[in-house]
Amino acid sequence: MKYFSYQHNELYAEEVKLSDIAAQFETPCYVYSRAALEENWHAFNNAFENAPHKICYAVKANSNIAILNLLARLNSGFDIVSLGELERVLAAGGDPKKIVFSGVGKKTQEIIRALEVGIYCFNVESDVELERLNTIAKQQNKVAPIALRINPNIDARTHHYISTGLKDNKFGIAAENALALCHEIKKMTHLNLIGIACHIGSQLTDLSPFQESITLVLELVKQLTEQGIQLKHINFGGGLGVRYQDEQPPSINDYVKSLCQRLQHLPYEIIIEPGRAIVANAGVLLTRIEYLKHTAHKNFAIVDAAMNDLMRPALYDAWQNILPVELKNTHTLVPYDIVGPVCESADFLGKNRLLNLHAGDLLTVCSAGAYGFSMSSNYNSRPRVAEIIVDKNKVHLIRERETTETLFSNEKLIPSF
Ligand code: LLP
Repeated sequence: MKYFSYQHNELYAEEVKLSDIAAQFETPCYVYSRAALEENWHAFNNAFENAPHKICYAVKANSNIAILNLLARLNSGFDIVSLGELERVLAAGGDPKKIVFSGVGKKTQEIIRALEVGIYCFNVESDVELERLNTIAKQQNKVAPIALRINPNIDARTHHYISTGLKDNKFGIAAENALALCHEIKKMTHLNLIGIACHIGSQLTDLSPFQESITLVLELVKQLTEQGIQLKHINFGGGLGVRYQDEQPPSINDYVKSLCQRLQHLPYEIIIEPGRAIVANAGVLLTRIEYLKHTAHKNFAIVDAAMNDLMRPALYDAWQNILPVELKNTHTLVPYDIVGPVCESADFLGKNRLLNLHAGDLLTVCSAGAYGFSMSSNYNSRPRVAEIIVDKNKVHLIRERETTETLFSNEKLIPSF
């Protein structure tokens, strides 16, 4: 969290006090650092040196169009999983020729639009999807460029909700069926097989399962070549973890370098789809304490952000650091559960945190740039929060706070007779 740091006991985002942002835009809100975002993207890009590659940022991690636009300006590619994400990337100025389309449930309309704008590649996840894609491409008089997503049956050793490379998971095509299927694809007139893809899970901190999946994919690619099927690229997905607490993920540089090493002397472009490693540490959730509720058993800091704003603690029991915006003395630290106003006991942002708190204080939940706002909802009829990006000493509002009117503007009463 290099770009969020204390100066004279006040927490800053780059050169701006978070307390000033709270005063101007109210709380809760997400605050991002442009420098952090760009530095992470460049770290991926620079590590490849001269190796042919595409960095296809996983839009699901944070899909605000200002963020997408900043990445598009760096010539980033994008990994999308829905029509909504496709339209966001286009609206942000992203190049369709650098888009890969993942996901197990692509609908007809989504495929038609992706063919129309000419995306780089569909990552296909099943034999039935191949058939649908071939039929639609034929109807549209197009040839769909595709990569086959392999399910290597490897345990990524991460939270089981975000592990995707096991046979039990809905993703990809079983490795043992891939070879035969590639030969089938060659017979499908409106598909062009250009790659193999694999993504075993997210928040990977131990890379040995990832290395195992590389070995398996490279073996498959070798067999394909021997059987006369030549590919353009190999897509190794996303998944590089970040440090939330005491995890020790490899650096972006080491991660990419180890990938490049494995592919040295092979004629393939490398595609990766990082999400979290680009945005997680580029953002915080800023919230204010409404009440301090002290009971005989426990102390609660009831803040104005809740599980609908940041779902990760409730959904994955995820731990994210919580820091006071104003650093007070640390002699009187008291354990608090940091909770929101939503009517569920799952509504917590952190448990048992040692802090010196007062009602009205501002807190930040750290490393909230990835899977924070993008997973937020209107649960309990709470308007989604504002998003702000700091660029040195400048502050830009990149998403206005929703109003209570917008909450139900799509709803209709039924007639009274
Ligand atoms: N590519 C594919 C095919 C994916 O399914 C994902 C993430 C990514 C790339 C990006 O992975 P990343 O580099 O961000 O790890 N909501 C969860 C994470 C879900 C990840 C889903 N897929 C969380 O908050 O931890």
